[in-house]
Amino acid sequence: MLIIDDISKMKSVSKELKKSSGRISFIPTMGKLHDGHARLIEEGKKYGKTVVSIFVNPIQFAPGEDFNKYPRDFDSDSALLKKLNVDCLFYPSGDIVKNTETFLINPVYSSRLEGVFRPDHFRGVLTIVMKLFSIVNPDFAFFGLKDYQQYILIKKMAEDYFLDAKVVPVETVREKCGLAMSSRNAYLNADDKKSACNFYKVLKGAAELFNSGEKSAERLTAHATKELIRHGFGINYVKIMDEGLNMEKRSAETGDLMLAAVTYKGVRLIDNIFLK
Ligand code: PAJ
Repeated sequence: MLIIDDISKMKSVSKELKKSSGRISFIPTMGKLHDGHARLIEEGKKYGKTVVSIFVNPIQFAPGEDFNKYPRDFDSDSALLKKLNVDCLFYPSGDIVKNTETFLINPVYSSRLEGVFRPDHFRGVLTIVMKLFSIVNPDFAFFGLKDYQQYILIKKMAEDYFLDAKVVPVETVREKCGLAMSSRNAYLNADDKKSACNFYKVLKGAAELFNSGEKSAERLTAHATKELIRHGFGINYVKIMDEGLNMEKRSAETGDLMLAAVTYKGVRLIDNIFLK
């Protein structure tokens, strides 16, 4: 596996990879890799040579958020990537965002859901992903559905800018108990992690309620909110939106999603479930 930290070297390696093998699958990450990331990589391998980036992107964290304590474990991450037969690890330094004056924003979609609680978050995400895309120039790029709003925003960015990269969504990978895997789960001790499993259980309960005939978004979200509070979660939001995240629904329909953000023991968790 090639390990590259230099931007111009990465550009030339991408060109070579394309010449030799045709297609590049790109998986951008912030590291502290887990089975969710591995699933994106496995998916990427089906489409072409794999380039994985690891960069804890400072411009997507607000002052006071967890940028400094975000888990970093280069040795175990690179060992895992080698084991997964990744072709190239791109590990840029902070120079990739230093002195940036041009930022990408999507004022409409960024202001919803996560955007209410993390106003500049998606500006940082879109900007770094655009930078990474212009260095790696991928044919396919893989994003997890756990971060559903992020996926929608990146897909829209790729459309708006006529990017060559096809944005491919990948199912959420969960612990046995249902908890969505996340690098931030490392902040929870074993007992708290067990209790955090109730997050997805509550979402599943709401989806079952929908299944059994309850279509009122107000009642479905109220039910989930009450259950989450009962299990000790702090609520940021619980909402039912259409698949494109264009509007909040009053009457839920098949294909809509329930999306939620909660806090547990000071750790912020997000998740979602499709209503079927
Ligand atoms: P990070 O949180 O490291 O996630 C990298 C990718 O892995 C994202 O596409 C995310 O949705 C996906 N992912 C995380 N947990 C997952 C799970 N349990 N199942 C499936 N996929 C999962 O998301 C970011 O980094 C950053 O915002 C980034 C896009 C790299 C820009 O800095």
